[in-house]
Amino acid sequence: MIITDKFARKLRDIRISVTDRCNFRCTYCMPKEIYNSNYNFFKKSEILSFEEILRITKILASFGVKKVRLTGGEPLLRNNIHLLIKELTKITEIKDISMTTNGVLLSKKRAHLLKEAGLNRLTVSLDSLDPEKFHKISGSKYSPHDVLKGVQNAKDSGFENIKINTVVKKNINEKDILSMLDYFKDSGCIVRFIEFMDVGNVNLWEKSDVLSLNDIINIISEKYSVSPLERNYKSEVAKRWSYDGGEFGIISSISKPFCGDCSRVRLTAEGKLFTCLFASNSHDVKKLLRSSESNISISNYLMDMWSERDDRYSETRMSKNSYKPIKKAEMSYIGG
Ligand code: GTP
Ligand code: 5AD
Ligand code: SF4
Ligand code: SF4
Repeated sequence: MIITDKFARKLRDIRISVTDRCNFRCTYCMPKEIYNSNYNFFKKSEILSFEEILRITKILASFGVKKVRLTGGEPLLRNNIHLLIKELTKITEIKDISMTTNGVLLSKKRAHLLKEAGLNRLTVSLDSLDPEKFHKISGSKYSPHDVLKGVQNAKDSGFENIKINTVVKKNINEKDILSMLDYFKDSGCIVRFIEFMDVGNVNLWEKSDVLSLNDIINIISEKYSVSPLERNYKSEVAKRWSYDGGEFGIISSISKPFCGDCSRVRLTAEGKLFTCLFASNSHDVKKLLRSSESNISISNYLMDMWSERDDRYSETRMSKNSYKPIKKAEMSYIGG
């Protein structure tokens, strides 16, 4: 049965965060000042087991979910994640399983296991090819070379059209936009530039730090002739362009929001469902999963959740002409 929300939007995708931990400390996501040795990450008993994730995904698949994206934190920090993927492929309604990762744990062996298990697509985050800048932004001991090695291992294992996510911030990495496009032009990878978003409350988001879609296009047009491409599917978040035979995308949640087609629900590692990336409230499905509730009663709960949904945060964040921060979930917790 297909369910729709208050704006007639169908439920089509689930983004599953499998861990709140990460081996990076990107400034815009997990600032070191907060995510340090005093930070309390979830204990193993607090996070959903693979069985629990599968149970909830099967129920959501019966309502029209066709796509699953695994996220984190860093999803490859979750042991045996390939075993979860293998089980997800057995849910007949699920047609696409993808993962967003920072790439440094994509060893040859790991990439092969993911491909064999049935992972269809990979997206790798990379904000700069300059080692010093990369180090600063990612707050990690790794280098761009480590990420690129992961991308190569994934290609060698048979992953095609790998997407590269680059978060752009004004005065931080706008110079990297052209270097990224130059580097990936004939690589078969698709770079997507993401406007810095006001996810959560700890990344000190300011509108003045945002490099908008128009700014990004202007920078790229200085070197390349660009033309827009049709979208691949209705709720695609990236707008697409071609350049010199290659393709890039821009995810413009700030300057050109895309709530109208939003078909995504997000499951956190500790089993809370969010109907919007920026929602203040969530739905505690772990509580239901760990109680004696039947699948029918969980289904009814989820149907109500989606039919009452009226989220369109990105379209309203600036509506009063002043930006008022509200309580939101952090990116490493909600999974992006
Ligand atoms: P595909 O189109 O299936 O390849 O994936 P995707 O682009 O939706 O996934 P990815 O994890 O690469 O997300 C790219 C960026 O878009 C991330 O920064 C996400 O946080 C952001 N994003 C994804 N979905 C939404 C959404 O519903 N709202 C907003 N505001 N941002 C989103
Ligand atoms: N704004 C935009 N993108 C972000 N990401 C993480 N935090 C932010 C933010 N504040 C990106 C990551 C990853 C994707 C899931 O979200 O770089 O590629
Ligand atoms: Fe980790 Fe991704 Fe957040 Fe960076 S953006 S800290 S890689 S979860
Ligand atoms: Fe969907 Fe919320 Fe993003 Fe809008 S802001 S596209 S409703 S997740």
